[in-house]
Amino acid sequence: MLKLEDISVHYGSTVAVDHVSLSVEEGELVTLIGANGAGKSSTLRAISGLEPLKGGSITFEGWPIERARPQDIIERGIAHCPEGRRVFPALTVRENLEMGAYRRLDRQRARADLDGLLDRFPRLRERLAQPAGTLSGGEQQMLAIARALMARPRLLMFDEPSLGLAPNFVEQVFALVDEIRAEGTTVLMVEQNAYAALELCDRSYLLETGRVVCEGAAQDMLANPEIRRAYLGG
Ligand SMILES: Nc1ncnc2c1ncn2[C@@H]1O[C@H](COP(=O)(O)OP(=O)(O)O)[C@@H](O)[C@H]1O
Ligand SMILES: [Mg+2]
Repeated sequence: MLKLEDISVHYGSTVAVDHVSLSVEEGELVTLIGANGAGKSSTLRAISGLEPLKGGSITFEGWPIERARPQDIIERGIAHCPEGRRVFPALTVRENLEMGAYRRLDRQRARADLDGLLDRFPRLRERLAQPAGTLSGGEQQMLAIARALMARPRLLMFDEPSLGLAPNFVEQVFALVDEIRAEGTTVLMVEQNAYAALELCDRSYLLETGRVVCEGAAQDMLANPEIRRAYLGG
């Protein structure tokens, strides 16, 4: 479904992503793990068209997208839940959710989707008219996820969805990611918490300083002694 071949992202003289190749098949939950600064967010941003490639190619459902504009990539069916749950703080919860569907032409179905999402996130329904900035961190993350779902993506990318959340929200977020995949949406998730990521996903790629140093089925990665030592606390 998604294929990155030999992609690189540079920021001036900083090499953030260094010849990375990876793929995601339809229906999979794939994670990208690795320490802070490994190039995980830059990889997602490159897929979304937010960072230009220094080299390499990206195809989604067979279409080359490495030169497409971000809004066209969304239209093709990729949604991106960015790091730091960026909701629009001054806009209401409702307005934030409507922003998620602004590229959609099927307005009636979008309204039905909104209703369905509000059934799923009753706390958002209660707070529809409230500015998003007044929500708690966990509620803002739920809003960011609900907003991404409003685009009805076929591939949903999450960038550290649990970062900075209280433990009960962390569990909720991972349960939600699992549910979204079970409903048929393909997921590519970036996560610094390697253990939580490997418990949840089918396959994973480990990034170190912009390179893929290990990849495989989640259970094999969990059993790998080097990964256990470096990322899973022995
Ligand atoms: N906008 C930017 N300008 C310059 N350097 C950046 C920028 N964004 C990220 N970097 C650098 O690129 C590298 C990879 O960053 P990032 O993709 O954010 O890693 P991760 O998400 O794995 O923490 C880091 O060295 C980071 O400092
Ligand atoms: Mg990051």
